[in-house]
Amino acid sequence: MAADDPLHPYLDPSCGVDERVEDLLGRMTLPEKVGQMLQLDARGDLEDVVLTRLAGSVLHASPERMLEAIDLVGRTRLRIPLLTADDAIHGHSFWPGATIFPTQLAMACSWDPGLLEQAARATAVEVAATGIHWTFSPVLCITRDLRWGRVGETFGEDPHLIGELGAAMVRGYQGDGLTDPTAVLACAKHFAGYSETQGGRDASEADLSRRKLASWFLPPFERAVREGCRTVMLGYQAIDGVPVTANGWLLDDVLKGEWGFTGTLVTDWDNVGRMVWEQKVCADDVEAAAVAVGAGNDLVMTTPQFFESAQEAVARGLLDEAAVDDAVRRVLRLKVELGLFEDPRAPDAERQRAVIGSAPHAALNLEVARRSLVLLTNDGSLPFEPDGPDAMPRTVAVIGPNAHDPQANLGDWAGASGQVDWMPDGHPRETVETVLDGFRAVVPDTWTVTHARGADIEELLPDPDGPTFPDGQPRPPVSSPAPVDADQVAQAVAAARAADLAVVVLGDTVALTGEGCSTATLDLQGGQVALLDALVDALEGTGVRLVLVLLHSKPNVLPPSALRASAIVEAFSPGMRGGRAVAELVLGHVDPAGRLPVSVPRHVGQQPTYYNQVRGQHGHRYADLTQEPQFVFGDGLSYTTVDWSDLALDATELDTGGTVRARVTLRNTGTRPAHEVVQAYVADVVTSVTWAAKELKAFRRVTVPPGESLVVDVQVPVAACTVVDASGRRVVEPGEFELLVGPTSRDADLLRVPFSVRHPAPDPAGAR
Ligand code: NOJ
Repeated sequence: MAADDPLHPYLDPSCGVDERVEDLLGRMTLPEKVGQMLQLDARGDLEDVVLTRLAGSVLHASPERMLEAIDLVGRTRLRIPLLTADDAIHGHSFWPGATIFPTQLAMACSWDPGLLEQAARATAVEVAATGIHWTFSPVLCITRDLRWGRVGETFGEDPHLIGELGAAMVRGYQGDGLTDPTAVLACAKHFAGYSETQGGRDASEADLSRRKLASWFLPPFERAVREGCRTVMLGYQAIDGVPVTANGWLLDDVLKGEWGFTGTLVTDWDNVGRMVWEQKVCADDVEAAAVAVGAGNDLVMTTPQFFESAQEAVARGLLDEAAVDDAVRRVLRLKVELGLFEDPRAPDAERQRAVIGSAPHAALNLEVARRSLVLLTNDGSLPFEPDGPDAMPRTVAVIGPNAHDPQANLGDWAGASGQVDWMPDGHPRETVETVLDGFRAVVPDTWTVTHARGADIEELLPDPDGPTFPDGQPRPPVSSPAPVDADQVAQAVAAARAADLAVVVLGDTVALTGEGCSTATLDLQGGQVALLDALVDALEGTGVRLVLVLLHSKPNVLPPSALRASAIVEAFSPGMRGGRAVAELVLGHVDPAGRLPVSVPRHVGQQPTYYNQVRGQHGHRYADLTQEPQFVFGDGLSYTTVDWSDLALDATELDTGGTVRARVTLRNTGTRPAHEVVQAYVADVVTSVTWAAKELKAFRRVTVPPGESLVVDVQVPVAACTVVDASGRRVVEPGEFELLVGPTSRDADLLRVPFSVRHPAPDPAGAR
C-alpha cells in the first residue's frame, strides 16, 4: 500500500467489526483463506507454518518461538495477526514458574464458582502477558467411567455443577470482554459426548443417542455458550457412526443454530486427518477437508495437509468456497474483536515479571488448594493438634511415592507432563510445595519431620507398537506396576513407628493419566497397597495416627486397609501449593471444606458409578457386591458436626414459571467452624420417560460458626426441573416433585419436602 493510500477498512479501527471482516475477506485468495482456518503446532517448522501454509493460528509456542512467529507474520502479504493458543488449563501450564492451580477435578471439590473465577482470572492475567490469546479451557466433559484417562481434567460427574464451575472459569478468563488486555479467550471442550467411552478407552465410539446427549452432555456447553464463551473445541469421538468432526447436526444445527453460538469452533488435534487414518470414514484428505468444513468446523487443529486438501476440495467441487468464507469470517472476527490488528498482544517481559507466579497469585493458589481438599474419613484423630501447656515436640513421618514428587502435585498439563518439549525438568523446583515440603514448613520449630519413600508406583516401558502413532505423535510409555520392595516398606514402617503421626501419600502418576492413558484398573499401583497394608498393621494399637493422603489424577479403588487408617484426605492433584494445604489441614490450621464432585467406587466393576443414574433396573445391588460407591457424590467431612433440620417451602404449589423457595436450618454442634455445601436436589416423582431419581439443581457454600445456627435459603427455578422427553425436548412436566436438601447426595443424608407444579393455564389467545 502506498503511503498516501487511504487505510483499508480492515485496518481501520473506526470501522465496524463486520465491515472490517468483509473487507479483509474480499481481499483474500483461497490459499490465504484456507491458511486462516489452520491452527498449527509452533514446535514444527515455523516458516512452513506461517509463510507457506499461512496458518491463522498456532499452539504450543515456546516463549522464544512466539516472538519468531510474530516476526514471520510481518513477511506475509496481508499481515493478518496470528491467534496464539495453548492449554493453560489449571494455570499457565507450560510457562516456567507460572501459577499452577489444582486440576479441574481438584478445584471442583471446592464447589465454589467464585473461587474458580478468581483462579481463571489470575491465569488469564499470566497468560495474556506472554502473548497467548486463547486457552483451551474449561473442560466440560462429564465424568462417567473412571478408567478414562482424562477424568482429572473434568469438573466431575454432575451437569449442573460442571455448568456453574465452567461458566465461572469462562467469566474469569474473558475478564471484562475481549478488549480487556488481560482477557484470554475461553474454550468449552470437548464438544460433546467425548467422555462417554467404552470401558474407559480414550476416544472410543460414544454410545449416545441424541436424547441422551441432550439430557446430560450438552447442558454444560449450553451454559458456557450462554455465558459468552467465545470458542468451542471438539472431542475425538464418533457418535452413532458419525465422527464429531463430521457431525453437522451437533455443530451447525445445535451449537450454531439452536444456541446461536457466534464464536469460533476448533477441531481437536488432527481430527480431520483422523477421519482418514484412524476412523477411516474418508478415503483421503481431500474428502476429509470437505466433510469437516461442510459440518461447520472453523479452525482445523494440526492437520497441515488441510492447506492443500481444502483447496483441492474446492477445485474438485466437493467444497463450496462460501463455506470456507463462513469459517474464515469467524476466525477473523475474533482477531478484530481482540484488537490484534492494532496490537498483536505480543509477549510483554515487564508484565511477565510483575504477574507470573506473583505473590497474590500464590496466595490465591494456596487458598484454592485448601478449599479443594476433601476429608473422607476421620476417626477423630484429625486435626492433629497435640498443643497445650504440656505439648511436647512431635515427630511426623511423611511417607509414600507421592509425598515428595512435584509432578504428583501438579498432575497432567503442567511442566514436564509430556505435552511440550521445552520444560523437560518441569516447573522450577522451588515453586512447588510437596506434602513433605508442606509439613517441613508448617510444623512447629521443635518438631521433627522424617521421610521414607516406602514404595514405587511403576516402571515405564516402551510401547510395543513403536515410539510414534501413524501421524508422528509420540506414543505414551506403558506403565508397568513396580514390584513390592520389602526394604523400602521396612524403612517406611520403621519411620512410621518412630513417629507420632504418619502421613502416607499414595496415588498415581502422569503416565497413568490423560490422553491415550486410560487405565484398565483403578487400584493403587506398584508397591503402594503392600506399603499401606504394612503401615496399618504395624501401627495398630501403637497410638501412632496414620493419615492417608491421596494425590492422584482421579479416584482409585481403595484397599480395605485404607478404611483402617485414622483418616483419609482426598487431594487429587492439588497444584503448586497443595503440599502446604495438606499439612495445614492435617494440623488443624485450616478446616476441611471440600466435597466430592465424583463418586468413588468400591470396585472397578461398578463402573460407571455416577449418582444420577436412570431409574428402572432390577434391584439395587450386584449378586456379589453392593452398587453403593465407597464415597458418594457430594461427600466430605468437617472437623465439627452439623445438624440439618426444618426444611420448609414457602409455597408447595407452583407454576411452571415460578421458583421453588425453601429454607433449611444448619446447627453447628461442635467446636470448630463448619464449611458446608448446601446441596439441593430435585426428584420428579413420575416422568413421561425414564429419568434420574434425583438431580442436583442448586448448591451454596456457607460457614456456620461453632455452636451457632444458620437458616439458609435455597432456590430452584421450576424451569430447571426438567426432563428430556421421548422426542428430545427439554420440558417441565407438571405434577408431583420432591426437593431434597442436605450435605451429600446420599438419600439418608437428605431432608425431603414435596411440591407440585401446576399445568400452565390455557392460553386464551390459543383457545378455540
Ligand atoms: C488434544 C487435547 O484433546 C485437547 O484437550 C488439547 O486442548 C489439544 N490437544 C491441544 O493441546
